[in-house]
Amino acid sequence: MTSPENPTAPRTPGEPRTDTAAPPRDFPLRRGCPFAAPAEYDALRTHEPVARVTLPTKREAWVVTRYDDVRELLSDPRVSADIRRPGFPALGEGEQEAGARFRPFIRTDAPEHTKYRRMLLPVFTVRRVRAMRAAVQTRVDEILDDMLAADGPADFVSAYANAVSTSVICELLGIPRENLEFFRDVTRVSGSRHSTAEQVSEALGGLFGLLAELVGRRREEPRDDLISKLVTEQLVPGHVTTDQLLSTLGITINAGRETTTSMIALSTLLLLERPELREELRRDPSLMPAAVDELLRVLSVADSIPLRVAAEDIELSGRTIPADDGVIALLAGANHDPEQFDEPERVDFHRADNHHVAFGYGVHQCVGQHLARLELEIALETLLRRVPTLRLAGDREDVVVKHDSATFGLEELRVAW
Ligand code: HEM
Repeated sequence: MTSPENPTAPRTPGEPRTDTAAPPRDFPLRRGCPFAAPAEYDALRTHEPVARVTLPTKREAWVVTRYDDVRELLSDPRVSADIRRPGFPALGEGEQEAGARFRPFIRTDAPEHTKYRRMLLPVFTVRRVRAMRAAVQTRVDEILDDMLAADGPADFVSAYANAVSTSVICELLGIPRENLEFFRDVTRVSGSRHSTAEQVSEALGGLFGLLAELVGRRREEPRDDLISKLVTEQLVPGHVTTDQLLSTLGITINAGRETTTSMIALSTLLLLERPELREELRRDPSLMPAAVDELLRVLSVADSIPLRVAAEDIELSGRTIPADDGVIALLAGANHDPEQFDEPERVDFHRADNHHVAFGYGVHQCVGQHLARLELEIALETLLRRVPTLRLAGDREDVVVKHDSATFGLEELRVAW
């Protein structure tokens, strides 16, 4: 990579370029409507499908908005997810520095990435997840009982959405579930663009401390849970170190919690605002699996989670992304591409061929997607069936939207019933 004034001088990846007249637009772009991609994505997709942006860290990177380009990029072996690369386009300093230190496997490449992914895959197969249905239903019912027993109004995000996603993961891993808000705080700090490296390290340190204690206990007395399984099959025979095991458990909690919380909360808000869709699901609950996938597409809460670096020059839609530059595959851009989805803003539970990329694409595609779908189906179906009177407990303007986090979602949603 060279600078334009001096073709032989190297340019540090991610540093602002001097060859463009107008400074690149700032990224991330904000959503106007919480149920759609940021409005600017349409213009980008049409006029600048591979666009240069300035990140909150003041580094520069590329963003990709077309469905075909996003899939091509995420399945290209010349693209790296290694957070230690200087051009890695983290959206906050905290993530970049702490990520390089703790190295969650989502931010690594093969063969390291393959090793940890293989460790988790057997736990999240369709068959294993299907067997969890009854347990998840019981837990969702208990959480709803608690919410309804307390006098309303309630904050739906903490009383239901976060409680469901966090307790399901805790149960799977074998973590006592009393600390639901603790996990939410960890993700809040570690996923925020405004967090410093110290704040992220401190939050993750607290999480790893709790996990380390559990790993120790399960080593002494294994149980029927994921931590015991990984301790017995991976840690004890020496296939992984304790730090590697903690990092893998930590990313599974972080990746699975906030995304699912956001999806439950935003889907509920959307259904509260669209009585005809609510009615359709109440009349025909067999539509729920298709509805969940349509909500995943429309809401695309993990829009800017797939962060990558071009390991070589890469050509996309007639533009070259130079080697070592950071690039972000915008999932909401792809999922709202009219070339792929007819009238993409329409919420249609009968949409055919809904091959959305809400769970990403390629080698890093979401490991927990079957579990996420199960949780969403049960959480939404139970709510519609048991609380038909659910409504917003204030004005729509009082709903607090979360704009500063890796996952798009709601901070607070006051509801009554
Ligand atoms: C609606 C909920 C969810 C959404 C929208 C979502 C989305 C995603 C996306 C887009 C990626 C790919 C990131 C990339 O390419 O860089 C991903 C990866 C991942 N997800 Fe999810 N996820 C959800 C739920 C879950 C759950 C419930 C779990 C586990 C309990 C989980 C665990 C993971 C892990 C471990 C990875 C890393 C996979 C790898 O790098 O190979 N996710 N998720």
